[in-house]
Amino acid sequence: MSKTLDLERILHKQGFGSRKLCRIMIINEEIMVNGAMCDDPDAQFGLENLNYTVKGEPWVYKEKSYLMMHKPSNYECSHKTQHHPTIYSLLPHPLVERQVQCIGRLDEDTTGLILISDDGLFIHRMSSPKHKVPKIYEVTCKHSVLQSNIHALLGGVKLIDEAETIAALDVKQISECVIHMTLAEGKYHQVKRMVAAIANRVEGLKRIQIGALKLPNDLAVGEWRWLSEGDMIKLGAEVD
Ligand code: URA
Repeated sequence: MSKTLDLERILHKQGFGSRKLCRIMIINEEIMVNGAMCDDPDAQFGLENLNYTVKGEPWVYKEKSYLMMHKPSNYECSHKTQHHPTIYSLLPHPLVERQVQCIGRLDEDTTGLILISDDGLFIHRMSSPKHKVPKIYEVTCKHSVLQSNIHALLGGVKLIDEAETIAALDVKQISECVIHMTLAEGKYHQVKRMVAAIANRVEGLKRIQIGALKLPNDLAVGEWRWLSEGDMIKLGAEVD
């Protein structure tokens, strides 16, 4: 039998505020569960496929949150930002309350695919250097990218402050100044530093793929969505 929980705890666990606040919302008839209004904070519900609305906004119960976002430029991947708004301001408040975190940071001027979760194991799995989840970046360079540059990136370039040379897993030339570069690591400013090492400069950077998960064409800049089961499989990270 699937696990059940009282409505007050369900809302609290899902990030809708303190138990007291959740109780008040329930008594005030602001919550509907599986299509019917419920004003009893102690009413028990099965958690599997649980649908509810809070003040008219629809939600589905999620034991853990797994999201993707199309990060815009001029947003920082930090809860405490310095110069720009945080990407967390683009998420609904209950998700932020659940203390979701982005998995690997993108620079403030980088756009594209970023994963966000409150599942520590998933965050570790996706960010650990041991697992080497490949990431593909679309890199727009200031100057033309030559065949010799591509060979250098594939063969390994020396970065300041790194003992070993670092190589791209793959580099595809898209146009004179644009390449798709696949990296296994996520070192600080890695793409920018690798491009600097071939005497060029990054003018635009967008992450277009993580593992086998591509940034969906219909996910507009600044939008987020839940990861589907298919997405999790593409990330090699199925969860029960
Ligand atoms: N490499 C960079 O230089 N910046 C990013 O944001 C991501 C990878």
